[in-house]
Amino acid sequence: MGVSGINGQSFATEPETALGQDFTSLVIQSMGPNTDPRLRHVISSFIQHIHDFARDVRLTTDEWMLGVQMINRAGQMSSDKRNEGQLMCDVIGLESLVDAITYEEAVKAHRPLTASAILGPFWRSDTPTRPNGSTITFDTATDAVVAYMYGEVTSADTGLPLANAVVDVWQCSTNGLYEQQDPAQREHNLRGKFVTDSNGKYSFYCIRPTPYPVPDDGPAGHLLSLMDRHAYRPAHIHLIVEAAKHKPVTTQIFDAESKYLDDDSVFAVKEALKVNFVPRQGDPEAKFELQYNVSLAVDPKA
Ligand code: BEZ
Ligand code: FE
Repeated sequence: MGVSGINGQSFATEPETALGQDFTSLVIQSMGPNTDPRLRHVISSFIQHIHDFARDVRLTTDEWMLGVQMINRAGQMSSDKRNEGQLMCDVIGLESLVDAITYEEAVKAHRPLTASAILGPFWRSDTPTRPNGSTITFDTATDAVVAYMYGEVTSADTGLPLANAVVDVWQCSTNGLYEQQDPAQREHNLRGKFVTDSNGKYSFYCIRPTPYPVPDDGPAGHLLSLMDRHAYRPAHIHLIVEAAKHKPVTTQIFDAESKYLDDDSVFAVKEALKVNFVPRQGDPEAKFELQYNVSLAVDPKA
């Protein structure tokens, strides 16, 4: 690099050649011998890709700082009720990609498995257990349509029903808000855990889900608008199903008649997860019903 002297100071006369692969190798090799092997593999690849990305797009300092500020803002907005970092990953498809990789590994060993889908930021660890046949919809919104959901949990390897499996479900109200986002809803509205009976069966009343936008008042929403995209998700119900000696599945089921199935803002729709609500006969409590059976993989480590 050429250097010229002015008043005793040195200035570069031409820009430094953008740092190349030797620099990237130096950063990767700076890890010490005590780094966990899997962590070393993941971090090495991450550094390699993020350096290549910066070189590829010729990332400027100002652009990089905008990204840093977005990540910082996501952290500042996050709490036990909101996970903005996860939402940012969701709108760029990362959580769905990771889910697909994880599912691909699982089906190598077990079939037929219920397809998984992303957790999303609105699950709660303290959801109450409710009796089968009861409801998760309280103070039901006037525009909501009640549905009866029921099904069986079985073991993927034997096909046998699993008693005492836990079916944890959550959904948002017709105003597009989960109860923790909405002071007008009572706590734990539209969520519940159901334990399967001796025949592996569960059942409950819920509402037929409606499409809603993911929260767009933070950096994830900003990113969506920068990319000229909408925030909507198709109508869905979330589930986590777990049973002793089996691997739990986190998933979502999508109303096959919903809008936004082809342009979910978080890319979670899978063909296998589309379901059909059908009219329910002889039950004044519910207009529709949905049967959804779940098949869990045996956990070889259990
Ligand atoms: C949800 O379905 O609850 C959700 C998933 C990803 C991002 C935001 C919300
Ligand atoms: Fe959701």
